[in-house]
Amino acid sequence: MPGADPEGANAGWQRRSLRSVWHPCTQMQRAAALPPLPIARGEGPWLFDHERRRYFDATSSWWVNLFGHADARINAALKDQLDRLPHVMLAGCTHAPAVELAERLSALTGGVLGHCFFASDGASAVEIALKMSFHHWRKRGHPEKREFVCLRRGYHGETLGALAVTDVPVFRDAYDPLLMRVHQVMSPDARQAQPGESAAGVANRAAAELEALFASRHAHIAALIVEPLVQCASGMAMHDTAYLRRVRTLCDRYGVSLIADEIAVGCGRTGSFFACEQAGIWPDFLCLSKGISGGVLPLSLVMTRDTVYAAFLAEDVAHGFLHSHSYTGNAMACRAALAVLDRFVEDDVLRRNAHRAAALSAALAPLRADPRVRHFRQHGMIWAFDVRADWAGERFAERFHHAGRERELLIRPIGHTVYLMPPYLLDDTLAQWLAGRVMQTLDAVAHKENTHADPTPEPATA
Ligand SMILES: Cc1ncc(COP(=O)(O)O)c(C=O)c1O
Repeated sequence: MPGADPEGANAGWQRRSLRSVWHPCTQMQRAAALPPLPIARGEGPWLFDHERRRYFDATSSWWVNLFGHADARINAALKDQLDRLPHVMLAGCTHAPAVELAERLSALTGGVLGHCFFASDGASAVEIALKMSFHHWRKRGHPEKREFVCLRRGYHGETLGALAVTDVPVFRDAYDPLLMRVHQVMSPDARQAQPGESAAGVANRAAAELEALFASRHAHIAALIVEPLVQCASGMAMHDTAYLRRVRTLCDRYGVSLIADEIAVGCGRTGSFFACEQAGIWPDFLCLSKGISGGVLPLSLVMTRDTVYAAFLAEDVAHGFLHSHSYTGNAMACRAALAVLDRFVEDDVLRRNAHRAAALSAALAPLRADPRVRHFRQHGMIWAFDVRADWAGERFAERFHHAGRERELLIRPIGHTVYLMPPYLLDDTLAQWLAGRVMQTLDAVAHKENTHADPTPEPATA
């Protein structure tokens, strides 16, 4: 309850948090000077602190919160599930929410990805996909296929396997000695276009590099992992759909599994329910998490083809796919996910998001010509722009975040990249408001006098 804290308002929670909570993605020494924002409650796209100030959740709380905070329909489903069955282990038991979710997601792929393996966080889904792809090749008589390929600037999570296929130095460097060796190939990031080159041209160049690797190493490669359409955590690097089509063809030609990490880009974020749909392809493994449970409970899953599933069938449990987490397929989380899928249907979310995207793009249009800004870009419900180094200055992301808070915005740039991934609740008025506040925050933070302040690039943390 706002004001219920005996120490009074925000400061008490901040003090107690710093005393006992080790925050993620945070330098705790700096957090003492810039303490975390204590949130008392959420309602729709808004979060409220203990002093009743509101903040628009411009990044959907690390991209999970698709339909706003404390959504009535998701909450009603959860309350019902809570009284029936909050959780039961998924080994030897099953339950309706897991079954229905697997069925409905598979139907969304036209049955191509026929089985669903559950976990909890995104990184665990990536671990599963890596293990499963390697193991299924082994089962098919190819134990030598044990190498993985990932893209430069890709992010797939921070457990050791997921980190090995991640290329974000600030998260990876400290643990590099512990990580398995993988192949990294060119990112198809359209910002790398040379004069006169199109995004599809960059995609073709990136695919050519991948093909060269496959040509020489395919016999040893189990899988390629990609974030389809947008490499989010490294700074919303967007690419052309042509890349995914080329990748699918190359994986087929060279016998390499394709893992689509749709943890950030799935669930309508790029405009279609699955990002891969826009390229007209299906992967062999599709990882989903974040938005699938609407931002209320951790849930992740890996969808795969029935041929992969069949490779593990045997009488002996040791020949199965052995990877389990205690909360795998948690009934509450699956029920929340079903409520999320219901909302997509009931509210015609994908069509309405297209309208929302157009409205916010129009409201942000002045940024396209802003001399402080490079590479204004948008895909579906993701917007991003890079602030030129000579305008950004020192600790740009941190200063932008705090200036945003003063303007009722909860926003966390990645390095010099400002991005928006709002909940699917924007109307035209809110879109105007949001664009206005982003531009006001930019005015407050980006100054030419920042020149010389920050010669080294800022670490990019989401
Ligand atoms: C594409 C992608 N994969 C994997 C992950 C890891 O998910 P989690 O943080 O739930 O472990 C993330 C998280 O940002 C992500 O963006």
